[in-house]
Amino acid sequence: MPSDHTFLRACRREPVEATPVWIMRQAGRYLPEYRRIREHYDFMTMCKTPSLAAEITFLPVEILGVDAAILFSDILVIPEAMGMGLEFHEGRGPVFPDPIRTENQIQALTVPDPSEKLGYVLDAIRETKERLGGKVPLISFSGSPWTLAAYMIEGQGSPDFRQAKTLMYDRPDLMHLLLGKLAESVAAYLNAQIEAGADAVQIFDTWGGVLSPDDFQTFSLSYIEKIISGLRRNGTPVIFYCRGTGVLLDEVARCGADVIGIDWTVDIGRAREIAGGRVAIQGNLDPAALYAAPEKIREAVKGVLGKFGSGPGHIFNLGAGVAPDVPVENVRALVQAVKEESRVYHDGNHIRR
Ligand code: CP3
Repeated sequence: MPSDHTFLRACRREPVEATPVWIMRQAGRYLPEYRRIREHYDFMTMCKTPSLAAEITFLPVEILGVDAAILFSDILVIPEAMGMGLEFHEGRGPVFPDPIRTENQIQALTVPDPSEKLGYVLDAIRETKERLGGKVPLISFSGSPWTLAAYMIEGQGSPDFRQAKTLMYDRPDLMHLLLGKLAESVAAYLNAQIEAGADAVQIFDTWGGVLSPDDFQTFSLSYIEKIISGLRRNGTPVIFYCRGTGVLLDEVARCGADVIGIDWTVDIGRAREIAGGRVAIQGNLDPAALYAAPEKIREAVKGVLGKFGSGPGHIFNLGAGVAPDVPVENVRALVQAVKEESRVYHDGNHIRR
């Protein structure tokens, strides 16, 4: 993989000719090709079969022309590797049938050796890299300790994360025990992904935003800092995506990541100002804009590009994952619009290399 690929250059805030673009959840259900493969296999089988994972990872690169691939997998493979049973219920998504409710359950969780328990992900990375043949970089990922813990305690998604917060307030010591094990597991997992050939890694803190600012610092961000400082990066960019934590951007920008992913409730120009050249910014179009007509999507894209303004350090993305019922044509229109409309913001930059 040439390290001067536009996506990797943007992660390092180096000049590019056009803003690179990829889309969270690009390897998923809005693609008819994905749904066709899915008719034959259940979701976990797809995650655990490297040839299928590689095939799905490659789909949006071919169909949309995005500037980066993201590995087809899921954040919940780590808790499974730590010893939690994981089931996929059709129409409901992944479920932990035996959610964490006791100290004994937390004590019983192991910190997995990734090559032993998550070898299928590492194989999928190697196979995908081969398939991509250097066309675009491959992003691999993990959930954040807090977001994973929230799922492990609730057993599934939740509107208020009441169980997870009850444990956090009642027994912060147990919450820290769980988060500590998760942080150790995530760091080892990300290091193994980098060793297997991932060109960038992203940490998803999808549910960091349900915490108060102090709790976010204590129960999420401090573990992110620990994980990132423990990575053997060798120049591999680290992206930290945190949803709903726009008011804490200054703190987030100091976590050690190269890139901060933000949601659409944040003004990306303001985010760039707060970041102050410390990190690149990834985002942040409202995913709902993709329900509009292609010419309206173009206007929305121009809005985000204009807010970020001229110069390097922007990776275009949605502020959250693409919805399953969005027409592929609209997603393609978004990618095209970014490629065409972003050039004016980089005029002359590439000469200054
Ligand atoms: O971005 C990509 O395309 C790469 C693959 C990817 C998936 N999940 C595949 C998937 C990534 C990066 C994820 C991350 C993920 N998984 C998160 C964090 C990011 C986010 O979008 O919030 C979370 C919270 C999960 C857990 C998860 N996985 C849930 C709650 C669900 C069910 C609801 C849903 O969004 O589908 C999944 C299932 C899942 N993960 C699917 C895919 C393609 C759909 C499976 C299917 O029905 O075919």
